[in-house]
Amino acid sequence: MICLGNICRSPLAEELLRTKLNDDFVVDSCGTSAYHEGKQPDKRSILVAQQKGIDISAQKSRPLVEEDYRHFDVLLCMDRSVLSKVLNRAPAGADTAKIKLFLAEADMNDHQGEVPDPYYGDLSGFLDCYNLIDRATDTLAKKYLAATC
Ligand code: 4NP
Repeated sequence: MICLGNICRSPLAEELLRTKLNDDFVVDSCGTSAYHEGKQPDKRSILVAQQKGIDISAQKSRPLVEEDYRHFDVLLCMDRSVLSKVLNRAPAGADTAKIKLFLAEADMNDHQGEVPDPYYGDLSGFLDCYNLIDRATDTLAKKYLAATC
């Protein structure tokens, strides 16, 4: 799960998807920037998750690294700006077909297929973000669980 700062969107996507899958899956998140490296998720993401009974407070922001391209079967990007950065940084020989837009992977086209960045907005934007990611991860979990049956 990849966004820009790894403090607002992708921490929610990581925890929501993880809670809907089983231990056979490794779910992680990162950012294309290192602006917030080592920091907790944004307080507003922590709060909206907490209100739904999900705890993301122990997560720590980290930047995307080369190993991510080898280690994970799918790299899901929250918007097209993130997608293009992740594609541009792909090491030679990486399988770029597994780098996708998060909502497209969930067959959703809300907001032209992008999870809007809530960072500069208010709490309602974070709640919308949570709800959008919650819906998308329902579909993703079903898809990935079905694929492993
Ligand atoms: P995220 O949101 O990419 O969903 O974590 C942002 C977090 C920080 C910044 C921008 C977006 N920033 O500019 O610091």
